Amino acid sequence: MVNLRIFIVFEIVKCKANIEGNISMQGLNIQQADWAVVEQEARRIRTAVFIEEQSIAVEDEWDDQDAIALHFIVYNAQQQAIATARLLSNHSVGRVAVLKAYRGYGIGRILMQQIIAQAKIEQRPTLKLSAQVHAIHFYESLGFTVQGSEYLDCGIPHVDMTMMFDASH
Ligand code: COA
Repeated sequence: MVNLRIFIVFEIVKCKANIEGNISMQGLNIQQADWAVVEQEARRIRTAVFIEEQSIAVEDEWDDQDAIALHFIVYNAQQQAIATARLLSNHSVGRVAVLKAYRGYGIGRILMQQIIAQAKIEQRPTLKLSAQVHAIHFYESLGFTVQGSEYLDCGIPHVDMTMMFDASH
């Protein structure tokens, strides 16, 4: 059965978006869906961010987890897909990507907050991720904490991070 839910996000993010250009960050919505539903949009964003921008090898980007993950896609007010991430059944969040032109406006934060909210709804005990070192502050600001030391994955420095949920959630 296709897992398709759409959430309208009413948060008004940084004033910067209004001041600096015509990128409207109001009226964002986030779609949660299976790979079959969002493959085209997720592939386009992840190709631009991970394969083209970060030079991650094609064979490292795509794996068999996509077919069984819950995917999140952020759409702007013009219904353009601008960010994505996936959540696995082992509580791992991954492939978090915001298109370059849309970074720094709070889109990544809203995306992660949606994933955290979904994890709480599903009464997951934890979320975990492998963070690129440059993004540690981003994830710390959302409540994740660093576990262990740095390692290389696809030639990029990473560190494991986790967030524990209260048993009452
Ligand atoms: N380094 C340090 N801090 C960062 C950061 C980075 N690369 N990206 C965001 N932050 C901080 C912001 O300063 C902001 O902090 P503030 O609220 O204190 O000002 C907070 O994190 C939220 O920022 P936001 O605007 O929501 O982030 P974003 O929409 O730019 O998305 C990423 C953040 C990391 C998802 C985005 O930069 C991205 O897609 N990068 C390329 C792909 C990538 O590296 N993904 C992570 C793989 S682990």
